[in-house]
Amino acid sequence: MTDLFPDDEPWVEPVTPGAVILRRFARGCARELLAGIDAVAARAPFRQMQTPGGFTMSVAMTSCGALGWVTDRQGYRYQPRDPQDLQPWPLMPPAFLTLGQQAAESAGFPGFMPDSCLINRYLPGARMALHQDKDERDLRAPIVSVSLGLTARFLFGGLSRRDPVRQIPLEHCDVVVWGGPARLAYHGIMPVRPGEHPLVGGVRYNLTLRQSGKNE
Ligand code: SIN
Ligand code: FE2
Repeated sequence: MTDLFPDDEPWVEPVTPGAVILRRFARGCARELLAGIDAVAARAPFRQMQTPGGFTMSVAMTSCGALGWVTDRQGYRYQPRDPQDLQPWPLMPPAFLTLGQQAAESAGFPGFMPDSCLINRYLPGARMALHQDKDERDLRAPIVSVSLGLTARFLFGGLSRRDPVRQIPLEHCDVVVWGGPARLAYHGIMPVRPGEHPLVGGVRYNLTLRQSGKNE
């Protein structure tokens, strides 16, 4: 019998105009992505940053690429150096760039040139409050967001904080791309539930590739 949904084939799930989930899209490069995360974190360790309001984020973060996203009491911004050691951020691993470009293209956004990748690490209980990605100068480029490890409950709303919010499970190797009319959609992550992923362990990683536009 033919398998209508073969396990090893990615499939596309539309969310709203401008937003799609590319299910299992990163399956072929998950190990390379995980090795890339380890390499970046060896140079620029994961850290829990402070929000401008003075709260410590539950998610631990690091960055790679020409620019890294940071937050502290002074606000949210992109900067070319890691505030912890004032060194440039580690180079973006080639596997991150390739996956980001292929995913953007598959979602209908050709020519994506990410210059920044935020790496989020969620231990059980960590969450990301509803927010918009709006610190990038050029909002024409999409956001490409890769899930690795433990399953997340992704929150995806509209352009206003008050719009209804959908809760969508994101599994290992799922890639979400949002741009165009969805570029400023509110999104977040519910507290991650404890578990054990066979390849990644008791943790969830998220790679958020962005074209911050600050170099143009
Ligand atoms: C984010 O919006 O920065 C993170 C989204 C995710 O962890 O999937
Ligand atoms: Fe975000």
